[in-house]
Amino acid sequence: MAPRNPPRAISRRSVVLAGTALALAGGRAASVGAAAAQGGGVRPYTIRFSHVVAEDTPKGLAALRFQALVQERSGGRIGVAIYPEGRLYGDHDEMQALQLGAVEILAPSLSKFGRIGFAEFELFDLPFLFPDVASVRRITQGPLGQRMLARLQRQRLVGLGFMDNGFKHMSANRPLLTPGHFVGQRMRIQASRVLDAQMRALHAQPVTLPFSETRRALALGVVNGTENPISNFWTQGMHTVQSHLSLTQHGYLGYAVVTSQRFLSALAAPDRTLVREAMREAMAFANQIADAQNDNALAALRAYGGTRILVPSAQDMVQLRAAVQSVHQGLAKRIGPQWLQDARDALKNAG
Ligand code: SIN
Repeated sequence: MAPRNPPRAISRRSVVLAGTALALAGGRAASVGAAAAQGGGVRPYTIRFSHVVAEDTPKGLAALRFQALVQERSGGRIGVAIYPEGRLYGDHDEMQALQLGAVEILAPSLSKFGRIGFAEFELFDLPFLFPDVASVRRITQGPLGQRMLARLQRQRLVGLGFMDNGFKHMSANRPLLTPGHFVGQRMRIQASRVLDAQMRALHAQPVTLPFSETRRALALGVVNGTENPISNFWTQGMHTVQSHLSLTQHGYLGYAVVTSQRFLSALAAPDRTLVREAMREAMAFANQIADAQNDNALAALRAYGGTRILVPSAQDMVQLRAAVQSVHQGLAKRIGPQWLQDARDALKNAG
């Protein structure tokens, strides 16, 4: 598993170019849909899948699996163009691009749905809600997860399913093992009110930044630390700008794969089935390999030797849990008390 080289700077020019690409691609999108529809399942076309992480991550590998399945099952008639590492769209503009028809598939992290009007997705961000991935799946692979995906229709999106990355850990240029260690640290977070509240509860200063800008912001000292699963930490090269990784396993990071109603409904029925089925298998594949990807990244990080990997003691964990407990109550209104209750019921019924 290769770490990425220090990423390119995000220049004003690249932002302008991305904007231009969005406008141009928006124009082209109609032809993707039109080709798919008019062809009645015989004309070639290409599905664009944009995501922000490296290819050698659970999400990156799922995208590649989807590409291979679609191309093989359509006999090469349907292509899948993958744009990893935010090369086409990033956290700021990917949802808009999907709604405009400038891209057909995204897999944003669940934390990124709150700011576009789906605050219930932020329940996945609650610190220490899930003891393990099996518990997360009680929700994502059950009726509650299906209800959450169905809500996306309100914005003419179609949720194709969920997939895992794994549990997040805290990194900085110092240990982050007890609440006292966080005081005054500027911590990069995703745009989630729950994550904001979590960092504030630890007396850290949350700073919302797009994923593609995180490593650079760490390198420049714009922020002091961050939280991510190890596969993201390693493949983004964050270990070269963070001296300590504390294995706090305090929160979950997963994805919802989304497409637009406009695109899906333009497909001929057999193509729609093919795309849905290929994605179902690609997501199952991601869920199968996610743990191993994170374990491999941890092994690579240990072999690298430049980052101190710290394991909190049982006492540290008690303190961390206590410090962030208020976030559950404080954010219940935003997430929706019924969603929270249903999630807790699903977890309780896990037995
Ligand atoms: C991702 O895994 O898609 C990015 C997560 C982040 O923004 O921290």
